[in-house]
Amino acid sequence: MLRHLMNVLDLSVDELDNLLTLAEQIYDRPEEYKDACHRKKLATCFYEPSTRTRLSFESAMLNLGGQVLGFSSADSSSAAKGESVSDTIRVISSYADICAMRHPKEGAPFVASLHSRIPVINAGDGGHNHPTQTLTDLMTIRKLKGTFSGLTIGLCGDLKFGRTVHSLVEAMVRYPDVHFIMISPDELRIPDYLRRDILDHNLIDYREVAVLEDVMPKLDILYMTRVQRERFFNEEDYIRLKDSFILDQKKMELARDDMLVLHPLPRVNEIATEVDNDPRAVYFKQAEFGVYVRMALIMTLLREAGSIA
Ligand code: CP
Repeated sequence: MLRHLMNVLDLSVDELDNLLTLAEQIYDRPEEYKDACHRKKLATCFYEPSTRTRLSFESAMLNLGGQVLGFSSADSSSAAKGESVSDTIRVISSYADICAMRHPKEGAPFVASLHSRIPVINAGDGGHNHPTQTLTDLMTIRKLKGTFSGLTIGLCGDLKFGRTVHSLVEAMVRYPDVHFIMISPDELRIPDYLRRDILDHNLIDYREVAVLEDVMPKLDILYMTRVQRERFFNEEDYIRLKDSFILDQKKMELARDDMLVLHPLPRVNEIATEVDNDPRAVYFKQAEFGVYVRMALIMTLLREAGSIA
């Protein structure tokens, strides 16, 4: 059966747990998977800039013995001549076995999936969803904390435009006894739909605060985010808000010894580089886990499509 991934909620909790278990198995014994996708091709269709997502997808497919092709900007594809994503994916369905697509327009990978003969993975669509980042975040939390339940997670920075924050909240509320502390300036608070339809609807314990230092000692996880310049309507607002929270070593001293700092990256200046050497700073490890979780996802979708055993 042809299966796509548009949103992390497309996966049931059991499917998600199985996928994370597979990712951990690949991480522990990569040699066993080096030919799992022999002669299969991944197309990376990126209409928006990326370092981690595109290259970790490509690394993932190469690690599985497959091959990669694609484009890294709209300008270098026939989108520059006005080609639609539906025509593009029809053509790519003849060239590759699976496609990862990033697009600035929300819903574009979904439109592609409707016209595709190969699995399509949403690699980020505007301010909407970024499911493989969420899978990466979940693998990092599960691998380093051993559980999702009972954790207090601080989400800090741009909680309005930060698609990784929205997806992480939606994924985590499916596990018991999860608590959130939302740390943002007033203008960048979480969207109403997330507060009403996800947090309130599921009776989740959360609070919204404006001062990071006050809550540092309570956190098991601090998920930092960058203020998303590309989603702002005017530059003055961006400049006024961009340095609202800067995590430095002085603030880290307020945290527990076992608190972990995550960040989807890229970082601008919301985490001082002096924090990088703190053993609790795991954002580069998190980016590394992204390869393994994408290997597990590629294998899972190709298996369901009947392309690999
Ligand atoms: N985290 C993330 O999506 O990074 P890139 O934009 O570099 O892919």
